[in-house]
Amino acid sequence: MSTMINEKIIRNEEKVFHTPLINGLDKVEEVLYKAISDSHGNTRKICTNLISSGGKRIRPALVLCTSQCFSELKEKAIQTAVAYELIHMASLVHDDIIDASTTRRNRPTVNAQMGNQVSVLVGDYLFAKAFEILSSNTLIESMNLVVEAIAQMCDGEVVQAANKFNLYQGIDDYYQRIYKKTGILIAACCQAGAIIGGADEKEVECLKMYGKNLGYAFQIIDDILDFTGTEEILGKPVGNDLKDGNITLPILKLIQQKEYRLWLQKVFNEGGITLDKHHQILRLLKDSYALEDAYQEAVLCVKTAKEALRPIKDSDSKRILQEIADKVLKRKN
Ligand code: IPE
Ligand code: IPE
Ligand code: MG
Ligand code: MG
Repeated sequence: MSTMINEKIIRNEEKVFHTPLINGLDKVEEVLYKAISDSHGNTRKICTNLISSGGKRIRPALVLCTSQCFSELKEKAIQTAVAYELIHMASLVHDDIIDASTTRRNRPTVNAQMGNQVSVLVGDYLFAKAFEILSSNTLIESMNLVVEAIAQMCDGEVVQAANKFNLYQGIDDYYQRIYKKTGILIAACCQAGAIIGGADEKEVECLKMYGKNLGYAFQIIDDILDFTGTEEILGKPVGNDLKDGNITLPILKLIQQKEYRLWLQKVFNEGGITLDKHHQILRLLKDSYALEDAYQEAVLCVKTAKEALRPIKDSDSKRILQEIADKVLKRKN
């Protein structure tokens, strides 16, 4: 397939999250480029490439929508949305080093192109730029929320590394880990947006619950797509989670049956996940309904996320938040 057609498919998939158009999202794009405009040379080139590679922009979309549940579009919401997307991008750059990933958003990763050393520094640069935006706009609440989120995200990655190939971890451990890794930043987007919009404490808590459960669903679907997706549409490698020993929900469902746990342990002990084994496992995941069970957990999380929105006053923005939750279940990239 030609690169152009490929890019077209990706753009259409991305739009899943952007219809109807979210007020302020265009401005976020503009400010993202502005945020890195004082960089030079390779830093400039890499950061421009990262921004232009797109991504779903779900985090800025959440900041903008949650704030507009309570007020008109505010500059502080745009600045927070940009800072949070920069933090997300930085975490992806670092995650790709950790996972030794070669593609992201259908382009070579920074580590694949420039090596790990440059990648670490570019990630750090993006973090610094995000903090600059939050501090120069005196966005203290947004800063506090995201600092806590980053600390937990790092901890989540460390916990994940410590549990590689561990087939004796429970589903509760998985939820704790994905909350730290993914959910807390998504929840922070919703809390920060709500605070900027002028929500009261109870409303902020509702949006936190929405974000937390949306984050669970988002990562569960990501973990399912690692088994069922294609690199072309996902824009990143597939099949690597299990090969790298990262035990995700579909596998946790499968190994609830002791015979499969023992079998998988044997596979790990005897040469790991070859292509042949990967196909065998995929078949098992389908036949045993482990993939379906995992998907149903994401469905439940989305239901809980939408229920958390119930006390929030009806508005176009609230409707978009409900749609985003539904679309997480349908996403292909
Ligand atoms: C990828 O996040 C990392 C996970 C939390 C699964 P996204 O799927 O939001 O990445 P982009 O921004 O759209 O590329
Ligand atoms: C999410 O986990 C990573 C971050 C929260 C940065 P993954 O490792 O599954 O993300 P992908 O699949 O590489 O996007
Ligand atoms: Mg990864
Ligand atoms: Mg993944």
